[in-house]
Amino acid sequence: MEPFEGIPGPIPRFPFGNALDFKNSLPWELCAKYGETYGGITQVWLLGKPALVLNDPELIEQVLISKQESFYKDKLRQAARPMMTDDSLFLFPNQDQDWSFIRRNHPLSMTYVQQWLAEQVSILKHQFTEDIQRLVDRSKSGSFPFFPAMKRFIFDGFARATVGRVLGNQAFEDYLVMAEIADKRLQARGSYPEEPTELKYQQASQRWFRLFANIVSEAKKNPTGQDLLCLMIREGGSELSEQALGHVFAEIYFSANFSTPGGLTNTLYLLDQNPEWRSRLENELSSISMDTLTLEDLQQCLLLEQCVLESLRILPPVAFFGRNTHREKTISFAGYQIPPNTPLLISNWYLHRHPTHWPNPLVYNPARWDEATRTANPLDSDYFFPFGRGERICIGRYFGLFIIKLALATFVSQVQTKFAPEPPYKASFQLGTRSPEILNGFCVPL
Ligand code: HEM
Repeated sequence: MEPFEGIPGPIPRFPFGNALDFKNSLPWELCAKYGETYGGITQVWLLGKPALVLNDPELIEQVLISKQESFYKDKLRQAARPMMTDDSLFLFPNQDQDWSFIRRNHPLSMTYVQQWLAEQVSILKHQFTEDIQRLVDRSKSGSFPFFPAMKRFIFDGFARATVGRVLGNQAFEDYLVMAEIADKRLQARGSYPEEPTELKYQQASQRWFRLFANIVSEAKKNPTGQDLLCLMIREGGSELSEQALGHVFAEIYFSANFSTPGGLTNTLYLLDQNPEWRSRLENELSSISMDTLTLEDLQQCLLLEQCVLESLRILPPVAFFGRNTHREKTISFAGYQIPPNTPLLISNWYLHRHPTHWPNPLVYNPARWDEATRTANPLDSDYFFPFGRGERICIGRYFGLFIIKLALATFVSQVQTKFAPEPPYKASFQLGTRSPEILNGFCVPL
């Protein structure tokens, strides 16, 4: 225990240490409670092993940016590897050459991403309009679990924009099977087989990766679409092999198909809870012609941006993630000598809601995002980092924001989204994200 002496923290209880507290709470809420009680660094014991919870913006900055070479990313790797591949950015422990090769050559790093997004506005708006109409029809028989519906909505949106077509029910089911198994492995926090043994996983995984291999090979033969894959094949600029291309397009759903629908669901929920903001947004959008909506319109609609930023602040879809200290070296950190391989638990929940930084932090107030606040709190800053920080910041952040904004504009200009008070909104920790799991909603035309 010596290296940790002096770091405050809750009393560990034999034999689990503080692990039961994590089992019984949502990790970001527990981390925030530690922040309030013990300050910016807290020592906890997880089944006999010490770990550190970070709530101090400077320490988080050091881990993710200025001293990042002393830390690595591991926890996800073992659990999520079967759903991803060796080409998946998410899984690289360090920012080594292999990671930087994929990051540089990733579809979302291409110079024509803006051009691509501009072309997707009318394509996706059309698809979203049809999907919303289906939700209106579904609402005629009552409210429905909203987050699962948004997962499908975004899944289809991702597919349309990136590979030019929706992938269908079988692909969505395969995705859910794989995501469920990855989630179980993540939650198990223990040992599991290298490859999941379940037959249904094996079948789903084979179909899933075969589907993306076929999509890439077909696109190579006839790259005429407006989707990102065809654009990449036409424009070049990426050195990814054909196989790696299939892998990175398949990865999108595992790195983003919980967080992005979570962000959309939360924003619609917060607007329903704060009808004055919902009306203001509806008014603002009525001054834009939705029929001829452009990327510029979306970018210039300040209130749309403010509603989304405020939602990502107050209910960040990824509220908790981790690093480990250097594999071999003891490091000097926060004034302490920390032994190799110590897990660090990082959350943005506490800092996104810190009352000295954010006046009335629990109030949903999009207006707080005036120019001064936006300049002082960009996406990668001390008190606002919904997409992580530093070199490993989310590569899909602008795409994710684009999809959420476009979907939100389409919803708000066409329907009222209402949420049932019972059962009350409840989030859960799913696939590494804060998922609005229990929340029933419905859509009625304006
Ligand atoms: C609201 C939506 C999203 C949120 C809140 C979110 C959040 C995050 C966060 C917090 C990280 C950093 C994790 C860490 O440092 O350990 C991350 C990484 C990542 N995200 Fe996102 N994300 C979103 C959407 C997307 C989208 C749309 C894509 C792709 C289409 C995507 C792909 C990735 C990838 C590949 C990484 C790993 C990057 C790397 O390690 O170099 N995300 N995301």
